[in-house]
Amino acid sequence: MKVGIDRIRFYTPRWYVDMAKLAKARHEEPGKYLIGIGQSKQAVIPNTQDAVTMAANAADQIINDNNRDQIDLVLFGTESGIDNSKSAAIYLQHLLQLRADIQSVELKQACYAMTAGIQLAKDHVLAHPASKVLVVGSDIARYGLHTAGEPTQGGGAVAMIISADPKILAIEEPSAHYTADIMDFWRPLYATEAVVDGKYSSQEYIDFFDRTLTEYQTKTKSSLADLQAVIFHLPYTKMGLKALKSVLNRTDERHANQLLREFEYSRIFSREVGNLYTGSLYLSLLSLLVNSENLKSGQKIGLFSYGSGAEGEFYVATLQTNFQTAIESGSIKKVLEDREELSISEYETMFNSQMPLTNDNFVTNDKLDSAKFYLAGQKDQQRL
Ligand code: HMG
Repeated sequence: MKVGIDRIRFYTPRWYVDMAKLAKARHEEPGKYLIGIGQSKQAVIPNTQDAVTMAANAADQIINDNNRDQIDLVLFGTESGIDNSKSAAIYLQHLLQLRADIQSVELKQACYAMTAGIQLAKDHVLAHPASKVLVVGSDIARYGLHTAGEPTQGGGAVAMIISADPKILAIEEPSAHYTADIMDFWRPLYATEAVVDGKYSSQEYIDFFDRTLTEYQTKTKSSLADLQAVIFHLPYTKMGLKALKSVLNRTDERHANQLLREFEYSRIFSREVGNLYTGSLYLSLLSLLVNSENLKSGQKIGLFSYGSGAEGEFYVATLQTNFQTAIESGSIKKVLEDREELSISEYETMFNSQMPLTNDNFVTNDKLDSAKFYLAGQKDQQRL
């Protein structure tokens, strides 16, 4: 039985900052941010959006009266949780009016958690072929104004339905994993911004890619030449390019050029949004599927997932017949086209008001936010 991605959509708030202008404001050459980091725009997250509302705005686009009652499991990957006890998945289940007799849990392992959700969902569907699983990844990437990590911020959510006979991608067995207890990036409970050893994290990312790809090729006796494209978790888009270039000596020149060409399609959307943390790899997937003109059903795509701390996974998925129609490219492009640019000072004001929302009894300026789901404030320790 084939199991995989049946529907997929994403959401990012409607504001962004231009990276060339941000570079100037930080007394850096624009080329550093545009080429060296590989980002053109960065999503700016208002205090009316959090991991739950962004996930709801993404998932609402793929839930309808035909599939709502078939969903029997919600897996919510996030490292921007809003509560240490109650799972973000319960809020989501309620906002989307899903059935009450289902399972809903939140998963955490940095940016890897959405991939964990997808693989758990696949096993759930293999055991219960009629079921559909809603898997989301939703996060806000924050390093702080005037930090080295600032050009790698961003945010948003990706939502998908995993089912039998998927319309878009079938997930293949096996996967290759690598996990090690390292301190490359983490988010202490008392902090609103990530702590990161940037250069070390980038080296570890490449090392985990090398290890998991090698393990995958050993297990399956396959080679890079079997893959139409390899796509990546993109903390900044140059990161994926560096990882890809590190393994191109494993294939011939013609195929290496093909992988580089497909990688360019896969990074178009992340260039415009920045790091989505859990959802980032799947924004690369959407970008490839919407923008590449070379894809055909039956072709295989390699996916590399990395979550700091750290856990990596390499797996392969196969494009299904008529995947192009199931993607709904127009609606996906519209999320990016409908955005508004902020000046640097407007961005800084919005950034500073996003967190901490730790005080009780606050209201947000919800007139600002035209999204279907938004955070209105907090009253009596409960988010509204
Ligand atoms: P930095 O030290 O400011 O940047 O921070 P740099 O000096 O290394 O420059 C960056 C690149 O720009 C270099 O290229 C320069 O040569 C180039 P590279 O050597 O890397 O190929 N450059 C220029 N290029 C063109 N024209 C110019 C120019 N000037 C310089 N004029 C760093 C960069 C990424 C370290 C920083 O932004 C950071 O710490 N970011 C956050 C950490 C991160 O994203 N790590 C990625 C791997 S870890 C991961 O993926 C997990 C994560 O998503 C979290 C999770 O799992 O939850 C982060």
